[in-house]
Amino acid sequence: MAHLWDNVRLFQPRFPSMSDTPRKILITSALPYANGSIHLGHLVEYIQTDIWARFQKLRGNECYYVCADDAHGTPIMLRARAEGIEPEELIARVWQEHTEDFAGFHIGFDNYHSTHSPENQACANLIYERNRDAGHIVRKTIHQAYDPEAEMFLPDRFIKGTCPKCGAEDQYGDNCEACGATYAPTELKNPRSAVSGATPVERESEHLFFRLSDFEDELKQWHQAGHVQAEMANKLDEWFEAGLADWDISRDAPYFGFEIPDAPGKYFYVWLDAPIGYMASFRNLCDKSGIDFDAFWGADSGAELYHFIGKDIIYFHALFWPTMLAGAGFRMPTAVWAHGFLTVDGAKMSKSRGTFIKASTYLKHLNPEYLRYYFAAKLSSRIDDLDLNLEDFAQRVNSDLVGKVVNIASRCAGFINKRFGGQLSADCAEPELYAEFVAAGDAIAEQFEQREYGRAVREIMALADRANQYIDEKKPWVIAKEEGQEQALQDICSVGINLFRVLVGYLKPVLPAMAEQVEAFLAIDAMSWDSQTAPLTRHAINKFKPLMTRVEKERISAMIEDSKEDLAAEEKATSAGKAKQQATIEPIADAITFDDFARLDLRIARIARAEAVEGADKLLRLTLDLGGETRNVFAGIKSAYAPQDLEGRLTVMVANLTPRKMRFGVSEGMVLAAGPGGEDLFILSPDKGAQPGMRVK
Ligand code: 2FM
Ligand code: ZN
Repeated sequence: MAHLWDNVRLFQPRFPSMSDTPRKILITSALPYANGSIHLGHLVEYIQTDIWARFQKLRGNECYYVCADDAHGTPIMLRARAEGIEPEELIARVWQEHTEDFAGFHIGFDNYHSTHSPENQACANLIYERNRDAGHIVRKTIHQAYDPEAEMFLPDRFIKGTCPKCGAEDQYGDNCEACGATYAPTELKNPRSAVSGATPVERESEHLFFRLSDFEDELKQWHQAGHVQAEMANKLDEWFEAGLADWDISRDAPYFGFEIPDAPGKYFYVWLDAPIGYMASFRNLCDKSGIDFDAFWGADSGAELYHFIGKDIIYFHALFWPTMLAGAGFRMPTAVWAHGFLTVDGAKMSKSRGTFIKASTYLKHLNPEYLRYYFAAKLSSRIDDLDLNLEDFAQRVNSDLVGKVVNIASRCAGFINKRFGGQLSADCAEPELYAEFVAAGDAIAEQFEQREYGRAVREIMALADRANQYIDEKKPWVIAKEEGQEQALQDICSVGINLFRVLVGYLKPVLPAMAEQVEAFLAIDAMSWDSQTAPLTRHAINKFKPLMTRVEKERISAMIEDSKEDLAAEEKATSAGKAKQQATIEPIADAITFDDFARLDLRIARIARAEAVEGADKLLRLTLDLGGETRNVFAGIKSAYAPQDLEGRLTVMVANLTPRKMRFGVSEGMVLAAGPGGEDLFILSPDKGAQPGMRVK
């Protein structure tokens, strides 16, 4: 029997060369979660990828750039719940926002899909079933934290408590932000659910696991064959040394995701179907446009597949994803390329400082191509973090783009338009200089190909300096005043315009919108990488309009202020969301006097015991500890709570109600609960620190 690996192009990676045209290339960026806005931190990656995709297309390759929203998982389910809407409504709204933000930054996806799509479900099922049938999936029973009130298993991030190492309060279940310790959620002191506040209990459940270790040798060889960056390979070696554990790919209901075909009530973990979203988005594109899907994903595909990602998700892309693909008989990625994080003015982006800047906020104030250029100028193929220094940003854009590149055109176009009716000279007066500019294209292309955009930009700016130097030497503004120098003036300015055209051609992957304006100004077809090998001669250009204005510092300050306001608006929206969630709230009752209110004796009570009452459908008998005194209370909360889930909890009771004789005994007070009734009843819990017997005022 043939081994699966026989079909996978694993040991002979095809390292493409630029002369190999046209290449078939599929490119992806990581899928953003469908519960938050795109911000400048995200944009490092989308801009990096978009530049590469545009570059490949300009080179004449058959290249597709696809992405999608990452729509599944607990946070999205809970976010929708908090807004009082269905997850489908949330993800549709966010998809629209994301699409607009990306378009605003000229991110030219060939397709932008969603992981909550039929294509993704089909691909996920197929990948799962093939791996299962090949014996790579195992079932195991695990113990996990369960929120008895919310009736759901809790991901580590949804358990909070006191750090077992340093004692810092309010830390997540997997690591402490105060001391950096990592631990299991069971080690947290005073754990509570971030969903309901209840103390989590341990419950067991059967889960499905992917046996990564089945692929250890293949993965190692894939890494060593240069499909990942050197820094990434080192990190991966550490993970191999620690041993490849089986990967839990299932989650219990309630979960927003795809139900596993042969495991009712179990859902694919969001990280299983997220990278499959790359494939699904491409499938969707193929179905719309007739591209051959198998030519890109088949085991013997000669196409190239690249994933651009952030450094925080290397594990998923360099271990899980290639394994899932290989186990299902698909090709593995040609490369996974990680980048670092964005800092602003040398520090982590901060909401309170206004440096957590949303894409939409940026776009209200500044030209997106400023940022594309600045990121390009600072990006390399390494995983280093990238700093957006706002002072440097303004200075660099102003000096490079406005002061150098656009300046070449503005120094020459006026003369050509006014003195020569827009007509360029019949011959290029500086063929050698022009040839130098064209020849530089190979080295610049190589830098783009290698994702060394910073170097590419430096080389382009050196050419811009050279062009300005030429104009400085020739002084067209002096010649323009001299008699009989018409031809010289037209020649100099035509050379300037032609050099400008070559530069803009090289910058086109970075500045697509400006390049388009330049194409209109020069009255030329859309430029490709090598359509500038010959100069424009005897050619009429259009009137010059300013192509880019300077970055104004006031606009940057306004953007920062606006970002602080975004934060305030978000906080308001969250409370509005909470209010909406309680839309079933009953009308406020008639007013009572302050004295009426003061007569109520509300107390903190600990539910020492809770038990069912024989013969009563709705009642639980509660033994309430008031700090020394105990009360017997019958509460109609049986359909909402299991007795064992109440024991030990603090709640609030009315302590001065006249005792009431009931069929089952005397009730000595009432506990307070909210909600319409039935399963939807929520007993009140005091904040941390409250003690039994305390008066509630
Ligand atoms: O980390 C994230 O933001 C994930 N939504 C990225 C998913 S990338 C891919 F695997 F889908
Ligand atoms: Zn700690």
